[in-house]
Amino acid sequence: MNDRPYTGLMPFSERQAPFFFGRDGERKIVAANLLASPLTVLYGPSGVGKSSLLNAGVASHLRRLAQRNQEEFGSPEFSVIVFSAWRDDPRCGLGRVLGQQVSEDVPGRLAEKLDWVSSRLECDLLVILDQFEEYFLYHPNEDCQSGFAREFVEAVNDSVRASFLISIREDSLAKLDRFEDAIPGILGNRLRVDHLNLDAAREAITKPIEQFNRLRSPDAPPVTIEDALVTKVLRQVATGRMVRAVSDDTLGRLSNAPHPGDERVETPYLQLVMTRLWNEEQRAGSRVMHVETLKRLGGAEKIVGTHLDAAMSSLTPSESEVAARIFNHLVTPSRTKIAHSIADLANYAGVTPDALALLLQKLSTGENRILVPVAPSLDGTTGVRYQILHDILASSVLEWRTRHVQGRQRAEAEAKAEEQRRRAEQEALARTRLRKLSVLLLMMVIVATASALIAGLQMRTAEARQLEAEAATLEAETAKHTAEARRLELEAAVKARTAAERSSDLNRLEAEAARAELRGALEQAKDLRQRAAEAKTQVDTAKAASVALSREAQKERKSAGSDGIDRALARYQAAYRTLDLDALLAVYPRLPNDRRKHLKQLRSVCTAYDVTLSVQRRSPSAGDAVMAEAETSYQCVPKAGSPPQAFQRSEAFWLRKDANGAWIIDNISTPLPRR
Ligand SMILES: Nc1ncnc2c1ncn2[C@@H]1O[C@H](COP(=O)(O)OP(=O)(O)OP(=O)(O)O)[C@@H](O)[C@H]1O
Ligand SMILES: [Mg+2]
Repeated sequence: MNDRPYTGLMPFSERQAPFFFGRDGERKIVAANLLASPLTVLYGPSGVGKSSLLNAGVASHLRRLAQRNQEEFGSPEFSVIVFSAWRDDPRCGLGRVLGQQVSEDVPGRLAEKLDWVSSRLECDLLVILDQFEEYFLYHPNEDCQSGFAREFVEAVNDSVRASFLISIREDSLAKLDRFEDAIPGILGNRLRVDHLNLDAAREAITKPIEQFNRLRSPDAPPVTIEDALVTKVLRQVATGRMVRAVSDDTLGRLSNAPHPGDERVETPYLQLVMTRLWNEEQRAGSRVMHVETLKRLGGAEKIVGTHLDAAMSSLTPSESEVAARIFNHLVTPSRTKIAHSIADLANYAGVTPDALALLLQKLSTGENRILVPVAPSLDGTTGVRYQILHDILASSVLEWRTRHVQGRQRAEAEAKAEEQRRRAEQEALARTRLRKLSVLLLMMVIVATASALIAGLQMRTAEARQLEAEAATLEAETAKHTAEARRLELEAAVKARTAAERSSDLNRLEAEAARAELRGALEQAKDLRQRAAEAKTQVDTAKAASVALSREAQKERKSAGSDGIDRALARYQAAYRTLDLDALLAVYPRLPNDRRKHLKQLRSVCTAYDVTLSVQRRSPSAGDAVMAEAETSYQCVPKAGSPPQAFQRSEAFWLRKDANGAWIIDNISTPLPRR
């Protein structure tokens, strides 16, 4: 503390006694009571300065006295013990503190420990039990038959060399009833601590600075405070704006017009403002505490608001939420504080009274002090009540609450927006997946369709190739037949020439025979005749062979011609079947335009076009041309959705050989009438 003269919201400790002012009167009274009475009860509003008074005032003063005793008489007249840690088992905690006095573990119950320590120290023990209301908070169910209560009763009643001082918040004073039977007259010696009056408060502001200057090196320039600042702070934290935390009406509202001269100052508030001003000046490197700084910081009210924000930020999120739910009940519409019982506040917040009690404790202690407990209503209808530390906190409390609620709503809205964004992303992802799937399906359909088309095309190509192969076979056969016919014709010609030669031989032989006859060579004639007969037979045979061969050749020729015609007609059928215009033009080069158009139309409505030709009659026409009369049936294999088409007709196919000798259709007409 030597680096600053103010303590903030924490109570003064014994070490900070040099900076503790304004309580000289109270210090003397309390010390005298502690020395004279076996049991004293010190009470007062929360934050009034009880702990500070006991630590920095009473205990520090008594220890100095004891020290002086020690120095004067060789042993102290008394020893001071301060205890305030009630959360765990106080028997252990207090036992430990007593042990520290003699630097050893002390056995036995509390009374025995006290006897042991006092006899070891050879002095009386002055035991200060501070924050006694916390004993009731943490051990609500103990009675005087068990735990610390039992040992405490025994110690108070039996210890000859120990005096006790119970310091307790005013609002919990009634709880001491728990001990009334076991410790008769427990409330018989009561001292009440009130808030500092204005003079004491002025001391509490100025004297710590003087002490600060005294404790610094003499060379260091002193810190000063402007009188105007002291006045202004006192005005802002004193009566009219500051009011006592003791309720004096049943609703917990506080009278706001104290009598002149009865103005009081709540030291927590004073400490809060002065600590902030001190820190600001130090930060600025100033040695003077200026009234201007208070103005710049927005006055005491603003400083308190800043403190409130800092205090609230020390809460967990769930504690903040509960605080927000009770805060608006602790401030009236006219922005003054109003006290409510724990049960009511728990009801407003929707939590259990026990859970709320811990939060209220947190918000009414130490640096986080924002609330104060106040005594139950006078009619006894409520338990302990809580209110905000000061009216001046009212606006800050409501502003904090508004910010908290807005923050929560914003967080909820953001969470909702985040959830919606996440859902939208998922939907978009699903849509993308669906689109990809659709594209995949579409591609599969396209591939399947293309495959089907390719398969159809391949089938048609295979059919065309087969037809071409068949045509080539027929061509080859035709060529074979033609060659054979030519060979046979040649052979026939040779035979004919042989026959002619034989005939001339015959004539010659006959002439020779005649001449031989003439010469009378009958035998020779006979022989010659014989040979002539043989020759004649040979001629006849050759002639017959020639005729047969000619016939054969003719037949072959006819067959060759006939196959070529059939092939041409087959090609015609095949071209129609596959609706292949090129193939049709190959066999029917002079295909009329109307037929071309017709074929194209057929393509759009038919998957195939069956043509059946039944040739009824063939008749040679001029030169290498042939006319074949046929009954023709045309039948469309319709595509889906197209009407079926079929018709029959008689047609005359006029065929001729092209330059390569292949039969082609020259023209198709209706047949000539039969004669
Ligand atoms: N004489 C004083 N001068 C200046 N500040 C004081 C003085 N006495 C107490 N204070 C300040 O008042 C505040 C409350 O003091 P303290 O904790 O001692 O009160 P309390 O009555 O013990 O409170 P609680 O009821 O919470 O136990 C602290 O900030 C403390 O520094
Ligand atoms: Mg205290």
